[in-house]
Amino acid sequence: MSRIVYVNGSYLPEEDAKISIFDRGFLMADGVYEVTSVLDGKLLDFAGHAARLERSLTELDMACPVTMEELLAIHRELLEKNAITDGMVYLQITRGSAGDRDFAFPDPAKVPSSIVLFTQAKPGLADTPAARTGIRVITVPDIRWGRRDIKTVQLLYPSMGKMMAKKAGVDDAWMVEDGFVTEGTSNNAYIVKGNKIITRHLGTEILHGITRAAVLRFAREAQMEVEERSFTVDEAKEADEAFITSASAFVMPVVEIDGATIGAGAPGKVAVRLREIYMDESRKSAI
Ligand code: PDD
Repeated sequence: MSRIVYVNGSYLPEEDAKISIFDRGFLMADGVYEVTSVLDGKLLDFAGHAARLERSLTELDMACPVTMEELLAIHRELLEKNAITDGMVYLQITRGSAGDRDFAFPDPAKVPSSIVLFTQAKPGLADTPAARTGIRVITVPDIRWGRRDIKTVQLLYPSMGKMMAKKAGVDDAWMVEDGFVTEGTSNNAYIVKGNKIITRHLGTEILHGITRAAVLRFAREAQMEVEERSFTVDEAKEADEAFITSASAFVMPVVEIDGATIGAGAPGKVAVRLREIYMDESRKSAI
């Protein structure tokens, strides 16, 4: 079924939405994105995603073609036009098209950024069976660029990581650099040892997950102990629990890493509890 999408100021059927072949998002992966989940027709943590978008744009010296208020209105309009109850809104801003290929950035006064948004319906998003069984991951070397804190559309290596996982017959891959886990292909990675939640500290090596920020806040509010530091693959294999977080997976237990069973091989109590808290709280604050 055809969706209504948003492209540079217009709401159009998806087959009529067009972007130039010279768009720098297409030619250079010169663009940033956000994915915001929708439950009961409402946006989860829109403010967090908007704030990270502004930061990504600032870090890349890219102009934002809309205000954050306009952006919220566009999200809501798309949810309404496409009758989305559960799913997500994808947003992408690129440095636009200078009408030719050139490594140097065009003058933003002459070449406006491009903006595209579309919805993806995901009925039953909050109730995925994987949350009850947990997922299995392999580890792969993290060979991405050094500014993973910027949410760019350069997703070739994460896509390759997902394909390596698929080939290995598992669900996802955790990336490893200098012996330490950085993050999942499209999520942040955590282990639990003796009730302590351990996840990599923020820096340029990982994306500053919006779900991560919320989950760590809820964990601390619930008097759970949180340690933000690097951990190795061996430490992860010996952990009591493991899990991931992202806007689309929420809190998802991990039950196997590189063939090693984690804990009892079933979702652990900390991950299950954090998922419950996250689902409750994010539904309550959804807008
Ligand atoms: N991915 N790390 C990476 C590399 C990611 O791509 C993502 C999100 C996260 C989690 O961030 P957040 O909690 O803000 O979603 C961490 C999105 C969901 C995606 O690419 O589809």
